[in-house]
Amino acid sequence: MFTVIPIAWYMGTLARNDPSKGIWMTAHKSIGITILLLTLFRIAYRTKTSAPELPETFSPQDKIAAHAAHILLYFILLAMPITGYLMSVLGGHPVNWFGLFEIPPGLQIDKPSGDVFHLLHKVGQWVTYAVISIHLLAVAKHVKSGNGILERMWPGKLGR
Ligand code: HEM
Ligand code: HEM
Repeated sequence: MFTVIPIAWYMGTLARNDPSKGIWMTAHKSIGITILLLTLFRIAYRTKTSAPELPETFSPQDKIAAHAAHILLYFILLAMPITGYLMSVLGGHPVNWFGLFEIPPGLQIDKPSGDVFHLLHKVGQWVTYAVISIHLLAVAKHVKSGNGILERMWPGKLGR
């Protein structure tokens, strides 16, 4: 996420006919598709294995807030690449994964629908910034309180 977003900002500054625009666009799309695949893998794994319980120091409200925020994070991790992909293929633009192969579009070109997903992708960025900001503020709060939430992300910390 910390690469796909700055690349999007940078490519937005380039003129339509800038020769490097295509490379940045391919990088943005390819990283975005990779995020989608990793997220699908993560969700499949997450449904098969239960996540570690939140510590007892969390109030019931804290637990609800954490779960809600994590659901929103998963939502943007799916919605942003899906809207990006649909905007591209419906608009008739190929999606090439790191220049290695073209992802079969699987859909007919339909520019009006492509425009709708374009708008959703553009608006979705603000939801993305908001949700990530909240997440990072929560991480900072946990680090400050020294409750070990950040440390337990490290493999082996929970005996896994
Ligand atoms: C987690 C994944 C993604 C995030 C967070 C993301 C985010 C963004 C952002 C912030 C912009 C700039 C919007 C603006 O200038 O107002 C953008 C533009 C764009 N994104 Fe994504 N994106 C993701 C995935 C994808 C994917 C998978 C594709 C296509 C396969 C894609 C295609 C595009 C295109 C074509 C643009 C340029 C739109 C324009 O010229 O207005 N994105 N994206
Ligand atoms: C510096 C950056 C980041 C740090 C330090 C960080 C840290 C954390 C921590 C400490 C947790 C709680 C883990 C637990 O319950 O044990 C977490 C969960 C999570 N983070 Fe982040 N995070 C970062 C960025 C992001 C970004 C950019 C995203 C996606 C947009 C993200 C998505 C998630 C998700 C989906 C969960 C919930 C995982 C689950 O319970 O299945 N994180 N993160």
